[in-house]
Amino acid sequence: MFNKTLKQKIMERTKIKIGLFGFGCVGKGLYDVLHQTPGLKAEIVKICVKDRAKKRSIPDEFFTFDRSEVLNHPDINIIVELIDDSEAAFEIVSTALKSGKGVVSANKKMIAEHFDELLALQKLHNAPLLYEAASCASIPIIRNLEEYYDNDLLQNLSGIVNGSTNYILTKIFRDNLNFADSLKMAQELGFAESNPALDVEGFDAKFKLTILLAHAFGIVARPENLINLGIQKIGDLESRFAREKAYKIKLIARAQKVGNKIAAFVMPQFVSRENNFYHINDEYNAVQTECFFADKQLFTGKGAGSHPTASAVLSDLSALTYDYRYEYKKLQQNAGYELTRDFKVEVFVRFSDEVNVPAVDFDEISERYSSQKQNYVIGKIHFETLINSDWYKNPAVSVVLAENPIV
Ligand SMILES: NC(=O)c1ccc[n+]([C@@H]2O[C@H](COP(=O)([O-])OP(=O)(O)OC[C@H]3O[C@@H](n4cnc5c(N)ncnc54)[C@H](OP(=O)(O)O)[C@@H]3O)[C@@H](O)[C@H]2O)c1
Repeated sequence: MFNKTLKQKIMERTKIKIGLFGFGCVGKGLYDVLHQTPGLKAEIVKICVKDRAKKRSIPDEFFTFDRSEVLNHPDINIIVELIDDSEAAFEIVSTALKSGKGVVSANKKMIAEHFDELLALQKLHNAPLLYEAASCASIPIIRNLEEYYDNDLLQNLSGIVNGSTNYILTKIFRDNLNFADSLKMAQELGFAESNPALDVEGFDAKFKLTILLAHAFGIVARPENLINLGIQKIGDLESRFAREKAYKIKLIARAQKVGNKIAAFVMPQFVSRENNFYHINDEYNAVQTECFFADKQLFTGKGAGSHPTASAVLSDLSALTYDYRYEYKKLQQNAGYELTRDFKVEVFVRFSDEVNVPAVDFDEISERYSSQKQNYVIGKIHFETLINSDWYKNPAVSVVLAENPIV
């Protein structure tokens, strides 16, 4: 299919035959969305799922439990991988690419953890892999980073990239609910990953940041080399502090130029009303780019959920029919950006009496507070000192970045 003329390919837009893996939140969403999109003549031929006992909402003939029945099906020309097991997903996606098929995936964990291998497979087998849904679901950020932004001009990319943590933080700061109830609601609405720790501990956001780093700055990072701090330790004192200052706390993924290097991490951060992210609520995501000439631009849209995520999968399917593939322009430009931890951040650190947060770790302290049980300190600290400190990972310590964290 991918070696034919443009005319042939456009003619063949009537013949997208999909082999689907997964029929959960997003898989079902894709099924619905395809049935409401007559313009794209695509048909799901077979669906591979896992659980033989589960009742399905569409006829049994669609389903198989045998991967090879989908991967080797003679009529199927595009594989769509929407399962929640990243290692099985990698096996499926790599087998499909090796057979020269076009692939669409929403699996950020799989893509972030196997970025190099997936790049090599696409090149070796001349087979495209698109994954717009894997980062911020319905927001077309990857294609924009690929097509629009010149590497030299992009200074900073930051975003609310995880729908369920934003939903939880919205419930806490706007609706005054507690953490546990908010998480339960996010799970019931299908925003949270099957394993909620991936969301609340900032791993999901980090996988997305890993993908965005490659398309924004040409850095292929190992996820384990990026720092992620989630929202699970946010407590009453910092929530009260935020409310008193008319701030909210948001979980922000950031890739920012520091000199000629890139600082990249996921951490909770205070945001004021003047900050674009303050107004991004519920399962919405937002990515803000800051460029030398264009200044700030904000992309926003639903970052989770069945139909919004499926809409990005649908857009990738359509793009494949036009022979679109990522050129990985920033990687080709070879700008030589590297990650750095050599910068200072301004932080709010809340800690209990049992924990020693030594003043000497900070370059500058602007505020201190002590009560019977809880204390906080606000100050500037070298990033490397922070993440290597004895106290940073202590469950009784919560770290929230200042609004403009890199100082
Ligand atoms: N939900 C969202 O809002 C969202 C947003 C962006 C990206 N994503 C990504 O989209 C993917 C799917 O998420 P989801 O929310 O749809 O998950 P989900 O609701 O938990 O559904 C997962 C599906 O994968 C199937 N599955 C699991 N392991 C399998 C295997 N080894 N072989 C075949 N099928 C297997 C399950 O089969 P059974 O039905 O038999 O259990 C189920 O149908 C994940 O990578 C997720 O990160 C989700």
